[in-house]
Formats: sequence, C-alpha cells, structure tokens
Amino acid sequence: MTAVMKKYDKIYQNEPDYFGHTSKHYTTTISGFDFENGLVLDVGAGQGRDALYLAARGHRVIAVDSSAIGLEQLRERVEENNYPIEIVHKDALSYTPPKDLDAIVLDQFFHELPNNARLKFLQKMMQHLRPDGYMLIADEKSVLPMLRSELKRAKYDLIRDKNGVLFALKPL
Ligand SMILES: C[S@@+](CC[C@H](N)C(=O)[O-])C[C@H]1O[C@@H](n2cnc3c(N)ncnc32)[C@H](O)[C@@H]1O
Repeated sequence: MTAVMKKYDKIYQNEPDYFGHTSKHYTTTISGFDFENGLVLDVGAGQGRDALYLAARGHRVIAVDSSAIGLEQLRERVEENNYPIEIVHKDALSYTPPKDLDAIVLDQFFHELPNNARLKFLQKMMQHLRPDGYMLIADEKSVLPMLRSELKRAKYDLIRDKNGVLFALKPL
C-alpha cells in the first residue's frame, strides 16, 4: 500500500463526507456540458462527490481511485440510489479508460501525482476523450500552468479558466 493510499484511507475512514459538496465553481461548469446521458470519467473520485453529482444529472460515470475506503463509501451511495457509476479501485496511472469519453473530470487530483508524471498523465487522458469532449480540471493554482499550456498546445478551446478551474473542449 502506498503512502497516498494510506493517507486517504485514514482521512475517509475518519470523515465519511470529507470534501463535502461539489464546489460551486465546479457545478456551474458541469452544467455547461452540452450532452445528455454521457459517459464521464472521474479520476481520483475519492468518496465520489462529483461522480454522485454527475450521476444525479443523468450521466454514466466511471469513478477511479486508489482508496479502497473512499470507494466503499461511494459504493454504498451508489447502491442506495441505483446510480450508473462503475467503481474502479486502481492506481489511475496504470488504468486505461475506454476511448471516446464524453468528459473527463479531475477534481483536486493532479497535485497528488509526482511532478514528472502530470504532463504524461494529461496527455494519456487526452487520447481517451472524444473530439468535442470536455476536460474539466480543478486544482491548486501552482499545478495549473503546465496543464493549461498542454491544453493550448493541443488546440483545446479553454472555455473557462478561473478560480482554479480549467474547462476545455477538445478540438474536432
Ligand atoms: C484531494 S482528493 C480529491 C477527491 C475527489 N476528486 C474530490 O474532489 O472530492 C484526491 C484523491 O485522489 C486519489 N488518488 C491520489 N493518487 C491517486 C492515484 N495514483 N490513483 C488513483 N487515485 C489517486 C486519492 O485517493 C483521493 O481520493
């Protein structure tokens, strides 16, 4: 078990709703998704606040995280609500998602990765997003410049870039 797994298992064990509700900046952005019943990948989903929010809005979600405890808490909520959320307990760095996802959300995930793994991971995620699909990243401001540059280099349309949120549309 890695230090990150231990850290989050402990945090989530002690506090079943650790991150609270999905942030307002995030929900506003998610409401900009222009598709219905899409397939959305939530990377580093944790206890699933964003996955649950997305599922309640009619999307299918794949929730990936390395914390068994966070995902078990999510599983209980998924079963209570009969939500279409697939739960994947895995290190995101070794997970290969389906192709042609409608959106990928990464809420406070990138700062958890080692510096030298961030760019490569974003590039991998970009390959799994369909053209005209959404990349939604929220994170500490210090990690955003490299991610922003890569999105621009790949000609993504940056629809929103403020309050620690990067919301970008993949070119056709
Ligand atoms: C700051 S929390 C954010 C959780 C969730 N996205 C939210 O906003 O509520 C970071 C999450 O990333 C997960 N995580 C960190 N490194 C990971 C990795 N390599 N693979 C999968 N999950 C990871 C942690 O277990 C934790 O749940």
